[in-house]
Amino acid sequence: MKILVTGFTGKVGFWVANNLKYRNIPTVCAVRNVEQAMAKYGSGYEFVRLDFSDISTFDEALERVDRIFLMYPPGQHLHFDVFLEKAREKGIKHITYLSLKDVQFMPFIHHYKMEKWIKKSKIPYTFVRAGYFMQNLSDFLCKEIKERHRIFVSAGNGKTSFVDTRDLAEVSALSLTEIAKHRNQIYVITGNEALDFYEVAALMTEVLGVKIEYTNPSIKEFKQYMTQSGVDAQFVNVVAGIHMPTKLGLAKGIKHDYMKVTGKNPTTIRQYIEDFKQDWL
Ligand SMILES: NC(=O)c1ccc[n+]([C@@H]2O[C@H](COP(=O)([O-])OP(=O)(O)OC[C@H]3O[C@@H](n4cnc5c(N)ncnc54)[C@H](OP(=O)(O)O)[C@@H]3O)[C@@H](O)[C@H]2O)c1
Repeated sequence: MKILVTGFTGKVGFWVANNLKYRNIPTVCAVRNVEQAMAKYGSGYEFVRLDFSDISTFDEALERVDRIFLMYPPGQHLHFDVFLEKAREKGIKHITYLSLKDVQFMPFIHHYKMEKWIKKSKIPYTFVRAGYFMQNLSDFLCKEIKERHRIFVSAGNGKTSFVDTRDLAEVSALSLTEIAKHRNQIYVITGNEALDFYEVAALMTEVLGVKIEYTNPSIKEFKQYMTQSGVDAQFVNVVAGIHMPTKLGLAKGIKHDYMKVTGKNPTTIRQYIEDFKQDWL
């Protein structure tokens, strides 16, 4: 058994690779720049170059592995159809795909198409349909929290089913190591509670000991401020889009598949804030 982990430098892939490494499962971490990854993460990982927009990187990445943790990165001209065809030719035994909660209602997004393509490839799969990542607070929401003590995003008063990406990684790693048990299964992974951003700000205030506010900007205000601050306009649109279901009250559903797969309760947002406190101080 050897597992290719894509998106290693991202919010989920990193934890998938570490979960597998902790359990001594042979793993290859796919990155676009091997030298940079080695300099940052050290020699404790095996790296291979993989760029989904560059077909010439596919063969080597698929060499000597038989399972894949697959994520869909930002960007354009990504050749997942070719990648999946090559994976099928090479006899890949299982793909665990990082998908999105409620994807079945969203035929216009890439995850919908990806799930269809993976099924069509006949490679056994697990779809991990994820709720809203807690780790977004350490990522694109971090700068405003740290510098201006505010959660600045246009999510209205809606509640979101937050999930810790470490929990997503745990389910993904289990599905890749116990493939018979998780073959062709779909798991919807969320935490145990849906919160609005006012409640998240209150929790952050309590844990960090610094007053954090949720300012609930309008979409227009959010886009204007972010683009004026130099953030790429396309990315700003993506972030605004991610929060639209929350604003519309459609993101609050909780599922208990994490408990079903692991036998444990999912990580609470309080625990996540405590663990990553240093990100915002
Ligand atoms: N954020 C959420 O709340 C949420 C919720 C549900 C589902 N999702 C889904 O989760 C996925 C994102 O996962 P993430 O947050 O872990 O990732 P991320 O933190 O956004 O990082 C992106 C990763 O993709 C890699 N990458 C970028 N372009 C690439 C390319 N052309 N070829 C190969 N790798 C490339 C990056 O590697 P480099 O180091 O090479 O840049 C990096 O590892 C998306 O599909 C998103 O829809 C997100």
